[in-house]
Amino acid sequence: MLKKPIIIDTDPGIDDAVALAIALFSEKLDVRLITTVAGNVSIDKVTYNALRLLKHFGKSIPVAKGSAQPLLRPGIDASDVHGVSGMEGWDFDEPDYGLLLPEHAVNAMYRTLKESKEKITLVPIGPLTNIALLLRMYPDVKEHIAEIALMGGSLTRGNKGVMAEFNIAYDPEAAKIVFASGLPIAVAPLDVGLKALVLPEDSAKLKGMNHTGDMIHALFQKYRGGSMKTGLKMYDSCAMAYLLAPEMFEIVETFVDVEVQGALTAGCTAIDLRGYLKQAPNAKVCVDIDDVKFKEWFLKSLSVCI
Ligand code: BDR
Ligand code: CA
Repeated sequence: MLKKPIIIDTDPGIDDAVALAIALFSEKLDVRLITTVAGNVSIDKVTYNALRLLKHFGKSIPVAKGSAQPLLRPGIDASDVHGVSGMEGWDFDEPDYGLLLPEHAVNAMYRTLKESKEKITLVPIGPLTNIALLLRMYPDVKEHIAEIALMGGSLTRGNKGVMAEFNIAYDPEAAKIVFASGLPIAVAPLDVGLKALVLPEDSAKLKGMNHTGDMIHALFQKYRGGSMKTGLKMYDSCAMAYLLAPEMFEIVETFVDVEVQGALTAGCTAIDLRGYLKQAPNAKVCVDIDDVKFKEWFLKSLSVCI
């Protein structure tokens, strides 16, 4: 089977850790590079976490450290959700720093894209700062990108403000650049993440499933993305689900832009399902997910990890 080449841009993050496990052990994906971006916690912490995860998974994928702050605004973080380290709950081994590239994430992405024979899909599951910089610094990169399949935005309300989802709220200007890029974009917004739930009985199945299941089960005890009782939200896994099992989603092609000026709504994604803005579609948006199928897919995907 021909594997789909991808680059994952991430801010691990507990739900990022789960999404990385799914992607790295999928027989359908070829993860060429992992880039990090400040978001859930600082750039040093998320980079350390990405390296610690790779050591745990026994995978030798190059990692490049990226942006430490949003393009224009002061940074925010989500340590209230993921813990001070960004991945509280498991005693990881020290990572292999040999995997850390000397290049900045943006340069590593550019080089990897240019060197590849096939177009590569970018999978951002954190703020879009690195991706916006890539598109601005190297406009010729566009012809090497197959699609940008991202987790971010919301059809309705937010989780980091009344209207804004965290990844977009962190760096609205970067998100605006990405949505205006003209590239094929797929969006797994907050709304599908809210239905992609792990309940206590699901988490119990992870414990003892394999070494990765044990680790994720332990991280889930500290994760505050939802509650263990009513369901932990697997936001970032939805971007991988879009790539690996798109039939689980209802997908609508529509126009998406980002509010960067609103006094109360900065970082809100205007997902124009009713065509008010009279613009041509620029994104495929996952508007609904089959939660039962997601659950089956999720557990099956993690069962093949080591
Ligand atoms: C997004 O914000 C982060 O906290 C999660 O990792 C996810 O990428 C959900 O709004
Ligand atoms: Ca994330």
